Amino acid sequence: MKIVAALAAFVIVMIVLGALFMYSGIYNIAATSGHLPMTRWLLTVGMERSVEQHADGIQVPPLSAGSHVLRGLRHFEAFCLPCHGAPGIPRTQIGEGETPVPPELSDAVPKWNAAELYWIVKHGIKYTGMPGFGPSHREDELWAIVAFLLRLPGLTAAEYEAMTKDVEVLTGEGELIALAGPPGEGLTACARCHGLKGAGKGVGAFPRLAGQGETYLYESLKSYASGVRPSGIMRPVAEALTDDQMRAVAAYYAGVDDAPYPPLPGADPVSLQRGGAISAVGLPEQGVQACRDCHGPSGVGRPPAYPMLAGQYANYTALQLSLWKKGMRGGGPGSAVMADIAAALTDAQIEAVSLYFATVRPSTVMHDPIVPPGTTEPEETAAGTAPE
Ligand code: HEC
Ligand code: HEC
Ligand code: HEC
Repeated sequence: MKIVAALAAFVIVMIVLGALFMYSGIYNIAATSGHLPMTRWLLTVGMERSVEQHADGIQVPPLSAGSHVLRGLRHFEAFCLPCHGAPGIPRTQIGEGETPVPPELSDAVPKWNAAELYWIVKHGIKYTGMPGFGPSHREDELWAIVAFLLRLPGLTAAEYEAMTKDVEVLTGEGELIALAGPPGEGLTACARCHGLKGAGKGVGAFPRLAGQGETYLYESLKSYASGVRPSGIMRPVAEALTDDQMRAVAAYYAGVDDAPYPPLPGADPVSLQRGGAISAVGLPEQGVQACRDCHGPSGVGRPPAYPMLAGQYANYTALQLSLWKKGMRGGGPGSAVMADIAAALTDAQIEAVSLYFATVRPSTVMHDPIVPPGTTEPEETAAGTAPE
């Protein structure tokens, strides 16, 4: 009994002392004075546990639709940006002056799941400057903000800017994946490497995707994801996509028809002509069928099965052929035939034909300029499998 009484007395004394301390005005309430490390730790851990507890059981609606993300983005600019900043945009003085300083959300978002983000945005966080938006916003509006938050991690300043600028022309889910990756996977955004229009950044480090056949793009993503087409760079990217997302982003890049081309590669005319001849008539003496039989005149492509080669970077095309030669290039159902073709080509021929295709601009191809007049139609010259 004595112990209980003593404890009770102690607690009462502490409360009175605490109240006196606060009343005396000695405590420095200034935001600029910051928190003691201990206080900061207690608040952070308490906050994290509380959010986890309270968000438990919240049902998350589908959030990937472009319309949600765009609505969230515009909202974010108006309501969150001043405190939190955005990729490439620092916090304003409002945010800088707070204790705690509002975190950069690109870094903070991966710590939370969608339900927890929703809860934070709806209810806010006590004893910090984080307001609750529940009282002023509809449910669907709160979820739209979450949909955008999920796209933030990994978004570069340039991508964020493009997103805010080009918002009027965003064509839907496919373009959004190109720009910002699927939700929570900003680092896989295709635009980082292939460019938003799929032009491929000019040097052939990344292939051109613009205007490529939709089915071929989709099948390629599937082969990367399954590992049939080995690539340490593209596999994690493709694995992060659902089947629907693969279809959406394939359709998006297939539909781009205004992607710029880099300047024409300098190439010696003889080599170019050899390449053109391989495209048009193949190398019968080596058992190599004309590329145009399958890939169309000047390699413009024959969807769905045969990809466009025209306008592709020469170094990328040559790399793919050499990978086939080494048995390291898988692909869609029809790709086995390419292993035989590549194996029959010399390195010089690979280079010549790759350069030739790089110089073709698909939009201007009316007929294969290399085929001499009077030559029979390609389907008739085909030495092996005829397409379709
Ligand atoms: C008035 C300033 C202010 C505004 C406006 C604001 N926030 Fe915050 N927010 C904060 C502060 C401060 C914290 C830090 C809380 C903490 O660390 O305990 C925070 C924390 C958060 C967190 C948790 C991050 C973490 O891991 O600590 C999220 C998520 C968040 N805000 C999202 C938003 C969104 C979305 C909006 C706009 C709809 C928004 N905030 C508007 C000040 C603000
Ligand atoms: C980190 C850079 C990077 C990112 C991000 C990236 N790619 Fe790639 N992508 C590459 C590279 C490198 C290759 C060539 C790989 C190879 O040699 O097979 C490639 C190849 C491809 C190909 C095969 C093209 C062809 O002509 O066969 C497709 C399709 C593709 N990527 C689609 C995408 C899509 C869609 C996204 C976004 C969801 C994406 N990539 C994101 C680097 C990237
Ligand atoms: C019998 C049909 C056929 C012929 C002939 C043919 N190809 Fe192909 N080629 C294909 C198919 C099918 C694919 C798609 C492989 C895949 O799924 O990745 C392909 C893909 C390619 C690719 C990969 C494109 C990319 O974006 O990664 C290159 C490069 C290529 N072919 C070059 C050639 C060249 C050069 C020739 C002529 C010497 C040629 N092909 C002849 C059927 C053919």
